[in-house]
Amino acid sequence: MDLPGKKSVTVVPAGGALGADIIGVDLSRPLDDGAFKAVEAAWHRHLVLRFRGQRLDDPGLLAFARRFGALDKAPVHAVNDTDHDPYPEITVMSNIKVDGKPIGNLGHYEAEWHTDMSYNETTPIGSLLYSLEVPPEGGDTGFSNMYRALETLPADLKRAIVGRSCKHDSSRNSAGELRKGYTDVTDPRDAPGAVHPIIRTHPATRRNALFLGRRRNACIVGLPMDESEDLLNRLWAHAGKPEFAWYQKWKVGDLIMWDNRCAMHRRDAFDPASRRLMHRTQIKGDKPFFDPSTLAA
Ligand code: OGA
Ligand code: MN
Repeated sequence: MDLPGKKSVTVVPAGGALGADIIGVDLSRPLDDGAFKAVEAAWHRHLVLRFRGQRLDDPGLLAFARRFGALDKAPVHAVNDTDHDPYPEITVMSNIKVDGKPIGNLGHYEAEWHTDMSYNETTPIGSLLYSLEVPPEGGDTGFSNMYRALETLPADLKRAIVGRSCKHDSSRNSAGELRKGYTDVTDPRDAPGAVHPIIRTHPATRRNALFLGRRRNACIVGLPMDESEDLLNRLWAHAGKPEFAWYQKWKVGDLIMWDNRCAMHRRDAFDPASRRLMHRTQIKGDKPFFDPSTLAA
């Protein structure tokens, strides 16, 4: 029998490029420090963690997320303002409409591979997504290991990006919708957004990852547009390879957390007549950096 207060945490890797299930943890109760440390270590190792069969209300989701750091307010939305009072750190992700008005973000569309909010100077450490309603099929979320993408990059491509930075456009979301208050970008070099190193050193693991935000309107600083386009196309073709990815098929009560510093994600479209409802929160991050000493062989 387990001693009171002593929780065992079991980590079951998904077996592919990233992802692991955490078994034996009830997230509606505070984790003791030992269990929290085990979860955090598993997160750094596996990049994406899944906790199945949870029963979380909003305060419970926020309390667990806050163990990893301060939380961000919701990002700027495309369609409507879906601030989820009284919890501004929670964003509703949903296609559901009430009285013809969407109650959440991202609708039922496909969301292309992306990093969350990389168009800001400081970018979230990670996000937590908790499922309340899931469609019978579709709406799977894919995650991709950007350490692995960098490690396997052909040598000439790697040489071409060492020391280079990319501009991350902030005007459109991952479903391609123009955000409220933004105008269309005609030249990516004029796009609003932040500039970050393309090779990013993870501040906790000290490992380097390929750091791409969104393909659309991206450009590599200091290169002519045609060279920038060519390099970005080759980088994205590589990063999107299925061998770096793992897909989550949602069940109600799944909580997924991903490390936004070393994993990208995407979502399949689903039938707009079905309902999908998730509550989401994200951990405030830091300014992406590259530590050249990590490249010393
Ligand atoms: C997100 C996101 C995908 C999904 O919450 O940042 O991209 O599966 N969500 O809803
Ligand atoms: Mn996202």
